[in-house]
Amino acid sequence: MTIPVRRVAINTGGGDAPGLNAVIHGAVHAARGLGWQIFGIRDGYDGFLEPQNYPDGDLIELRRSMVREISHLGGTILGTTNRGNPFCRPTRQPDGTTKEVDRSDELIGHFRRNKLDALIAVGGDGSLSIAHKLQKKGLCVVGVPKTIDNDLESTLLTFGFNTAVSFATECIDRLHSTALAHQRLMVVEVMGRHAGWIALQSGLAGRADAILIPEIPYEIEKVAAHLSRKHREGKPYSIVVVAEGAKPLGGDVTVRSPEAGRSERLGGVGETVTAQLQELTGKESRCVVLGHLLRGGSPTAIDRILGLTFGAAAIDALSRGMDGVMVAINPPRIDFVPIEKAIAQLKLVPPDSEFLLVSRALGICFGDAG
Ligand code: F6P
Repeated sequence: MTIPVRRVAINTGGGDAPGLNAVIHGAVHAARGLGWQIFGIRDGYDGFLEPQNYPDGDLIELRRSMVREISHLGGTILGTTNRGNPFCRPTRQPDGTTKEVDRSDELIGHFRRNKLDALIAVGGDGSLSIAHKLQKKGLCVVGVPKTIDNDLESTLLTFGFNTAVSFATECIDRLHSTALAHQRLMVVEVMGRHAGWIALQSGLAGRADAILIPEIPYEIEKVAAHLSRKHREGKPYSIVVVAEGAKPLGGDVTVRSPEAGRSERLGGVGETVTAQLQELTGKESRCVVLGHLLRGGSPTAIDRILGLTFGAAAIDALSRGMDGVMVAINPPRIDFVPIEKAIAQLKLVPPDSEFLLVSRALGICFGDAG
């Protein structure tokens, strides 16, 4: 077995997820154990593409002593950005205007100049798509699956998801008592742009009456009828969990604001659903938006373990000469799957999902005919 790689870079671009620091910790220990050097790129690829903003260095050499106490911390010690796509980067022109420019060659030049043999790209579908394109341009790349939405194909879990679901569940648990005290209808909006995994699992764990997810367009009248029936049957309050990407049948997602150089910012469906349900059921209603709270805080034990394992596995992949693969967990195995396959499509909640079927069997309404 040959172990040719000597200098590795790791980057944590895109939306953060609890467990990123654990990945860094796992990778640094494994790389140092092989006698390799490992470096962190600052703020996604910004360290390389905007070096003037990093007077103390575009790369941080990561030593074991620097990562010893980070695996339990949220965020990322390297920083991140989700405006950092090097293939279409908003760049200021001499005439003062801003244009999207492909700066990938320049980025690869920085890898070469720094004599970096490989990149560990920790990301969701967006960051891994960028990593895949860099790999096609000649960079040796191993991916690590990160997103609280858990919507990456080819892996049962991404790190960050368990923390998000656990926190959302705790919030929903807390809402039961105040909802009961006031006999109110409480709507909880959670993240989940394309996939409803967070809403589905936290709603199921948190005993929601209705769950609205992007995969199942809802009819608000059906949700209201279901809740009103439960009120008549003696449950005086309701809990509805709605994913930010949920949409009404024949309608579209609710967009908070379009933003340059990145995907639209979702948000607001919770407020809309709350107003509609108050109107239709006559129950006083309130909306709670969990948003970025789901991305913050300490990773759960599961996400720490996933992060540490994924980080070490990424180094293992490189030491075995792999390139263009993503580390994945498909129990009982840690797998290495082609990045291309992992980003080919999103992992959405399928109609025959066990979690969906169990929820329906428990009488949870999804706003459809099911
Ligand atoms: O990581 C994915 C995600 O959590 C989506 O569910 C959400 O739409 C997005 O991040 C929000 O990201 P930000 O507000 O940081 O751009």
